[in-house]
Amino acid sequence: MPYFALRMHSLIIFASGKGSNARAIIDYFKANGKASVSLIVCNKPGAGVLDIAREENIPFLLVDKNSFNSDAFITQLQDHNPSLIVLAGFLWKLPDNVIHVFPDRIINIHPALLPSYGGKGMYGDHVHRAILAAKERESGITIHYVDEVYDNGRIVLQARCPVAAGDDVDTLAARIHWLEHFFYPRTIEFLLDHP
Ligand code: GAR
Repeated sequence: MPYFALRMHSLIIFASGKGSNARAIIDYFKANGKASVSLIVCNKPGAGVLDIAREENIPFLLVDKNSFNSDAFITQLQDHNPSLIVLAGFLWKLPDNVIHVFPDRIINIHPALLPSYGGKGMYGDHVHRAILAAKERESGITIHYVDEVYDNGRIVLQARCPVAAGDDVDTLAARIHWLEHFFYPRTIEFLLDHP
């Protein structure tokens, strides 16, 4: 009987915070079996995403500025042969050499409609606060490739949502997280299926 080996894709997630997107991605691929998260990279001791890594028995790497910029770090990433490196609320800019070693294989999610409300300092609740202060009537998410410039790479997907009259940071963040948790795993799957 012929034997067809189906390659299970490896994903590496970079995250700095709570890890709700990491959780959504892990759960989605546990259910559909096309990929598994083989490593989580985090720069914050005590970040919630590390609890998720422990719960799920996923190896994690806690980086500091030195290890993050070392050649050994690149080797550690290569060892996992990732189909995609997925930034999910990771707050450091990636070193250029990491970007060059994984061309078109690193994606990021941003909680607004880039190019608006992007750039340094624009992350998490800071973005939602700026959107509310500007009285925008809509916001959304952007999933994009990572290049050498912050929040600049080619856009893969955007999804929009209204900003409601009574919104505060928490209600807007919840709506944005809903979009992220729905679309990020599915966009990853799309990219794995259409390399
Ligand atoms: C997400 O909303 C993500 O879009 C944002 O950080 C949050 C992380 O939440 N990323 C940025 O702002 C990047 N500029 P999580 O830890 O619950 O996944």
